Amino acid sequence: MLRPHIVAGNWKMHKGIEEAEAFVRGLERTLDSPDRSGLAELLEEDLLEVLVYPTALCIHSCLISRSTEMVKIGAQNGHWEEKGAYTGEISISALIKEGCDYVLIGHSERRTLFGETDEQVAKKVASVEALGGKAMVCVGELLSQRESGETFNVVRSQVEQALGGRSSDFVAQRLAIAYEPVWAIGTGKTASAQDAQEVCSYIREVVRSLMPNAADSVRVLYGGSVKVDNTFDILKERDIDGLLVGGASLDLEGFTGILNEAY
Ligand code: G3H
Repeated sequence: MLRPHIVAGNWKMHKGIEEAEAFVRGLERTLDSPDRSGLAELLEEDLLEVLVYPTALCIHSCLISRSTEMVKIGAQNGHWEEKGAYTGEISISALIKEGCDYVLIGHSERRTLFGETDEQVAKKVASVEALGGKAMVCVGELLSQRESGETFNVVRSQVEQALGGRSSDFVAQRLAIAYEPVWAIGTGKTASAQDAQEVCSYIREVVRSLMPNAADSVRVLYGGSVKVDNTFDILKERDIDGLLVGGASLDLEGFTGILNEAY
């Protein structure tokens, strides 16, 4: 079954407003150029979504600097409460009202550096569903967990908790799961395409056990040291429906190189 693919660039804590706007405009021009007409067709037919996650500071300027909606803009994080005394937070409600196309939830850096729990991840996902937005939930094991054979248990538990109580329509149409083995993030070590496929396929089976109607539609992405050289191998796998790219998405040429290689 053909699922629409997603290629997302997570800029993490990089780029100021000017640089972010210039990137979005440059990416738009690339996607729209006649020699990339294949990409433009995929976008028009909703078979591909291309998005970037700028810092919160740059979301508004990225949104308004676009002349089309070919490039989608997401938020790297959000709070489930609509408003209140939560210094430093931005509500998912405000992000969606502003026009954010996706909210990234449970990235391993949020989990390991900022103590985000599965319970908080679940609240954020619930908030996105209630507000009519789209969520991208990250799951993945630490190196020590992989080495002790816990990979499947870890991702199963993360997926079950993130999706608990959600409707199958939401999961099928407005949720993507990004499998990011933590040991592969920013390290230059990529999971082999076969290892990534094995875990992504397992994630789909976990979704099937929770909500059989959503399993064949939910998009499962891979992330972790993706670059031009490994893009094709990863994307040819049956259960991998796109990429979440960190470091290699910071440079326009690198990111468009990945898109070019992929489609
Ligand atoms: O969100 C993106 C991931 O953390 C991957 O980052 O491509 O730099 O390894 P990376």
